This record gives sequence, structure tokens and C-alpha cells, in this order.
Amino acid sequence: MADSNNTTDLVLPIVDLAPFLTDASSPIAHAQCLVAANALITYGAVLVHDPRVPHAANDAFLDLLEDYFAQPTALLARDQRPELGYQVGVTLENTERPRCASHAPCLATIARLDPAERPLDIISAPAADPKSRFFWRIGDPPAAADTAFPLLNAHNVIPDIAACDIKTRWPATMSLWGTTMRGAVDTLADMLAVGLGLEPLVFRAAGARGAHLLAPTASDLHRHGKLDTVLAGFHTDLNFLTIHGRSRYPGLNIWARNTGRRIAVRIPQGNYLLVQAGTQLEHVTGGLIRAGYHEVVVNKATLAAVERRQREAPDRPLIRISSTFFWHLESDYTMRPIEECVRRARELEKGKDIGPDRGYDGGEGYPEMKVGEFVQK
Ligand SMILES: [Fe+2]
Repeated sequence: MADSNNTTDLVLPIVDLAPFLTDASSPIAHAQCLVAANALITYGAVLVHDPRVPHAANDAFLDLLEDYFAQPTALLARDQRPELGYQVGVTLENTERPRCASHAPCLATIARLDPAERPLDIISAPAADPKSRFFWRIGDPPAAADTAFPLLNAHNVIPDIAACDIKTRWPATMSLWGTTMRGAVDTLADMLAVGLGLEPLVFRAAGARGAHLLAPTASDLHRHGKLDTVLAGFHTDLNFLTIHGRSRYPGLNIWARNTGRRIAVRIPQGNYLLVQAGTQLEHVTGGLIRAGYHEVVVNKATLAAVERRQREAPDRPLIRISSTFFWHLESDYTMRPIEECVRRARELEKGKDIGPDRGYDGGEGYPEMKVGEFVQK
């Protein structure tokens, strides 16, 4: 069985958004677009430097979510919306189930990995993740009359909790961090399109009214802080691109699709974010860019961060918050693989071993389908 500490110290390529934001037509901006496209093709992931990221916004966001998830479960439960498929509001721990255990292509991907690079044992991992989650929509949902998927476009829930001023702090803090993350992905999506030789706005336009979600997770490290605990089982995300800000506790491992190596993510201090490809991007690129597998576990670095945090901020809740944002294509957008990308994917697969990851479709192809249908499936 793999252990949580056997990871590669590979540094992912870094794409700098600054030249593109200054002059998108400059050669240096174009070079960065190629970095973005090539990194996503090779690794399914890339580090992003965005000069617009306000440092304090991530801290304010992490503080707010720590305070929120430290409240009694009965209070949090009021923010659940099971009738909306949990697409807004809170999802309490042991509800979300990683899809891999029941998804043949995912299990086949694990089987093809070198045993030393496999995720923490998916069979012995609990059936549901011991993490909670909050979904907060960023951007305006389409009017109910304009979408076939109103459940995926529901209005936000603001926690009605006076303790720690949670209710007062909530809307502005969530909106600022969510808008920051969305801005970074909007720009990266444009750069990716250019780097792939496509129309620059092709992805941004398809996601203009997407059901984008600020989607932090919370793991109570008092109760779930034992070495090798799986906080989120091996899976891919079903959105277009996922972006992560820095968490206060390491533990996110990603798999680089073309190498099959497990990489412990380290997001540098400063204006850096991590972006990973989701299955919608895999679908529209016909498998040229594969959705990136990842897991969150308690490893030795997590434990070191716990010790440090207890020393430096003994009064704060010991809860690991992930600073996660899901960027979606619009629910009513019809995904069909882009011909140019399909051609490149075939070329790439021809003379070359593309690694152990055959994609979420298991090699069966990517049928035309609306994003909303895909998400509901
Ligand atoms: Fe994920």
C-alpha cells in the first residue's frame, strides 16, 4: 500500500498572468499562454501567478470559514439544502462520497499506477469523506426561465449566525475571495485558449454564466488528524477548472497525468494559486487535457503545520480549510470536443506513452452533452 509521505517534489510550471493582463498581444504574453496550455496537457495542473490577488483576502476567508465550521453542528445543519442537491449552502461531513470506488475507469487508472504512486488505499478508506463543505455561488445565475437546470443555479445561503460576527462578515468576505479566484481563472481560460491556438474568448464565453462555486472544505484535525487519514478520497473534479489558494495545512496530493507521479502540492507564498483541469475541460478538448486526479490526506507535513498552528495561534479552531473554487461552463452549454484538440490528442497518443491515466471516459470517447446533464449524471 502507498503511504502518504512517498510523494514527488516536482515543481509544477508557473504561468505568469501579468504580461497577458498588460498586453495580451505581446510575445511574452503569448509565451506564457503556451506555458499554460503545455502544463495542463502534460500535468493536468499549473501554478498561476496573479498580481491582482490581495494577500489579506485569503486569510480573511480562512479565518471566517474556521469560525463557521467551529460552530455546533445543529447550527450548521440549518444551512443544508438537500432539496437543491446541496448545490448551495453546507454539506456536513460523511456526506460526500468519492466516486472512484464505483467508477471503473478510475479504478483502472489506480491499477495502472506504480504501486508506490497509488493513492492511500481507496478500499480501506471510509465510504464517505470526513470533511464538510460550503458551496457559495459567484456570479449571477441565469433567470429560472432561461435555464433547463434551475437546481444548479440556485441562490446563495447566508448563515444566520451571530457568533464571531459570522453573518456580518460572510457576504463581503466570500465575494471578495470568490471574485478574486474567478478573475484568475477567467484570465487563465483566455490564455489557455490562445495557447491551444483557439479563439481567445472561446472558454470565457462558454462559462460567462456558469454555476461557479467558491467551495471550501473543512476537516476537523482534532478528530481526523491522525497520520494517513484520508480527508478527501482519490477523484477528479467535474467542473472545467479548479483553483486553490493556499491552505494553512498541507495535504493535497495531485497526480500528473503524463507521468503517473504523485505530487505533494506546495503553493508558494505570495500571489500564487494552483489550477487543476476538471472533466468538462477534458470533455471539450477530447482528452487532450485530462482531468487531474487528487486526494487530501494527513501527512507528516500536515502534522508539522498542526503543531506550529497550536503554538502560534492556540485559541484558533484546529480546522483545515481548503481554499477551493470550481469554475464551470454554463449549465445549458453543449459540450462537444473541439476538432483541433482532438487531432492533437490523437497525435500525442500515437507514438508516445501517455502515462497511466486514460481519462474519465475510460477511452470510450466524449459524446455531445449539455453541461447540466453531465453534472446531474
Ligand atoms: Fe476535488
